Amino acid sequence: MALSFRRRCLLLLCLTAVHSDAAVQTCMDKHQVVGVLRQMEKFLKGQELRFTEGLRIMKSKLATLQNSVSKLPQADQSAAPTTCPTLEAPAHGTKFGSKYFLGHEVHFTCFPGYHLVGSATRVCRDNGTWTGISAVCNDVSECASNPCQNGGTCVEGVNQYKCTCPQNWSGSHCQHQTQTDVNECEVYRLDRGGKLCAHECVNVPGSYHCACPSGYKLLPDGRSCEDVDECLTQQHNCSRGTTCINTGGDFLCVNPECPASHGNISYVRTSPFQCERNPCPMDSRSCHLAPKTVSFHYLSLTSNLKTPATLFRMATAAAPGRTGPDSLRFGIVGGNTRGIFVMQRSDRQTGELILVQQLRGPQEISVDVDMSEYSERTFQAKHVARVNVLVSPYGF
Ligand SMILES: *[C@@H]1O[C@H](CO)[C@@H](O)[C@H](O)[C@H]1NC(C)=O
Ligand SMILES: *[C@@H]1O[C@H](CO)[C@@H](O)[C@H](O)[C@H]1NC(C)=O
Ligand SMILES: *[C@@H]1O[C@H](CO)[C@@H](O)[C@H](O)[C@H]1NC(C)=O
Ligand SMILES: *[C@@H]1O[C@H](CO)[C@@H](O)[C@H](O)[C@H]1NC(C)=O
Repeated sequence: MALSFRRRCLLLLCLTAVHSDAAVQTCMDKHQVVGVLRQMEKFLKGQELRFTEGLRIMKSKLATLQNSVSKLPQADQSAAPTTCPTLEAPAHGTKFGSKYFLGHEVHFTCFPGYHLVGSATRVCRDNGTWTGISAVCNDVSECASNPCQNGGTCVEGVNQYKCTCPQNWSGSHCQHQTQTDVNECEVYRLDRGGKLCAHECVNVPGSYHCACPSGYKLLPDGRSCEDVDECLTQQHNCSRGTTCINTGGDFLCVNPECPASHGNISYVRTSPFQCERNPCPMDSRSCHLAPKTVSFHYLSLTSNLKTPATLFRMATAAAPGRTGPDSLRFGIVGGNTRGIFVMQRSDRQTGELILVQQLRGPQEISVDVDMSEYSERTFQAKHVARVNVLVSPYGF
């Protein structure tokens, strides 16, 4: 290198000589050349010193650089640089940052009218994962309608909000008071004041309500129960040929049968609840003594009805154009009802069935009462009424 450098300098020298003295076609004389060479040598020496110094500084800088590079973490040249998975902009939003290398940040913003849920900034970590959680842009704030009551705090979530309730409040909207509730049902029971509810008191946080048994409905006063008439409201399933009878909380499907025929006595049904005896042979006394009519009656009573209570009245009516019987006798002829009912005359034409003993339901009692007609003290005819008393379990 030094050689070629010197040769180039000589060539330069000749050309310079030619150029400086165009008139003289020959090179400079030896004396002049030696002078120039000395100057050149001096110049080169200087250049060489500066060059060496420059090299030394460069080498030193390089060493420092190498040193500092080797101290950097992850300086291992064989390992691939850490990258994190590609992130997409959220729907209705924008992503800033497209480098997914270690330490790089990606930012997210939402379009106007949307608000960001999740992390607005995520950083690529050295284990190849992003800090934070996915960003989502939700339209209009879920909490904008202040859905949390009683001082609850609304927390935006993805597509839904959540209420953080203060102490003593709970529920999705903090609508329920959870503090130890006054049990109105209990308090009133102990007070022995008026019963809050006709049937059942149901305590709820901060309040109470009344409930009725099945087959009953709560009245608008909020405490009384009323029987539902399944027959009237067509809620029964009585088959054809039977008649629906409403009872307290329930219903019956009935189809009363006429007394069986025996001997000369036979009956025919004239209505769903009435049978009439067929005409008797003139001389058959037993037939004439048998009931001329048998009727069926159903009475639905509540439990513990106040007694005495008139349940049923029986009366006679003269056929048109004929005088009626001049006296009537009433009696109880069937049913195990001793001590429960009495049958008595209330006026000349009427008898009454009176309940004299309180009845507790549920129970069903059947009692047969009869009315015998007399004309001029002669027996004319007998009528029997079968009264079915249906007592509900409740006093309402
Ligand atoms: C990555 O590192 C962070 C903490 O620096 C940690 O929470 C996260 O679970 C790590 N993820 C994996 C996949 O190792
Ligand atoms: C919550 O209820 C408890 C028990 O009734 C009561 O002692 C407490 O003061 C209530 N706290 C608040 C914040 O109302
Ligand atoms: C009517 O329905 C009740 C149940 O509601 C059932 O027990 C009864 O057998 C039904 N009766 C008829 C005749 O279908
Ligand atoms: C039925 O009536 C006839 C007369 O018509 C009489 O002879 C007969 O004894 C009666 N039968 C009964 C069982 O009473």
